[in-house]
Amino acid sequence: MYSQVITLNEFIIERQADFPYAKGELTRLLSHMGLAAKVVNREVNKAGLVDILGKAGDINVQGETQQKLDVFANEKFILALKGSAECCGIASEENSEIIKFDTELAKNGKYIVAIDPLDGSSNIDVNVSIGTIFSIFRRLSPVGHTATEEDFLQEGARQVASGYIIYGSSTMMVYTTGRGVNGFTLDSSIGEFCLSHPDVKTPQNGTIYSINEGNYIKFPRGVKKYLKYCQKKDPQTKRPFTSRYIGSLVADFHRNLLIGGVFIYPKTDSSPKGKLRLLYEANPMAFIIEQAGGMATDGDGGRIMDIKPSDIHERVPLYIGSRNMVQKALEFMKENK
Ligand code: AHG
Ligand code: MN
Ligand code: MN
Repeated sequence: MYSQVITLNEFIIERQADFPYAKGELTRLLSHMGLAAKVVNREVNKAGLVDILGKAGDINVQGETQQKLDVFANEKFILALKGSAECCGIASEENSEIIKFDTELAKNGKYIVAIDPLDGSSNIDVNVSIGTIFSIFRRLSPVGHTATEEDFLQEGARQVASGYIIYGSSTMMVYTTGRGVNGFTLDSSIGEFCLSHPDVKTPQNGTIYSINEGNYIKFPRGVKKYLKYCQKKDPQTKRPFTSRYIGSLVADFHRNLLIGGVFIYPKTDSSPKGKLRLLYEANPMAFIIEQAGGMATDGDGGRIMDIKPSDIHERVPLYIGSRNMVQKALEFMKENK
């Protein structure tokens, strides 16, 4: 049976009308992200066949110096964005400083990108889903100059687009430009991301909680109490909630987005700001979850996207997912200060 296929590129071009101020630059930037994602996907898929899993610097059987997959992904996304002519700089989880593009073309780019090129790195070697997360802002510095640190230290609420790619049982790209959330599945037979999840909405309630319970003794009291609540029988389903934790934010988030749940990475005594990064992980996911009808906070009631970063690698506690579940967790936090 023939059914109409809409590719990522067709879709973003169609949606260009949503951005009267943007003369197609954002559209081109998003399609460059899609292109780099396909290149990285190819390497992720063959990682089991070639020696790409080894440590950076190792020599492979061909006598070539190897790169770890996260270094590879970082390079590919940087190259794609540098060549896109829409992006003047990048902040990457893999680079201590911001990368300012200095070609004339790139200096005229209106956007900056914050990226976690390979999320879930502990899962690379064991064939478990990993991902890429990105966040796009309009620059603050004048067009024609190199990017500045200030360009990257904007509140998440100023994002113009964010998204992720999940390299899972299938490869998907999910993104928002502030007009809802759409998901595209890579059809490897035609090499295109095709619209598979239009206008994603996350359930207001869910039954999944995702947290690294190995850290239990270090959790704030409110989180401990909330976990006990999750483990009690739910009067409606007559079952406790289900615990699911992959250890790749992209994969845990994606599952919860589609079927409903909450993901928590709280602060602990040893990590008072939690583990996850505001620019590369929390902000882009917060934009998506809000656009899908969910919620993202820092556990003290603060909206993730209202935080003004003071450092590009800043960390933040993250409570994200179905609205009612996040709110319930917040209640426990408030009552157990
Ligand atoms: P990254 O691989 O980019 O460093 O990110 C790992 C992150 C995130 O993906 C995941 O949710 C979290 O770290 C898992 O941390 P724990 O192993 O401490 O649970
Ligand atoms: Mn990560
Ligand atoms: Mn990473």
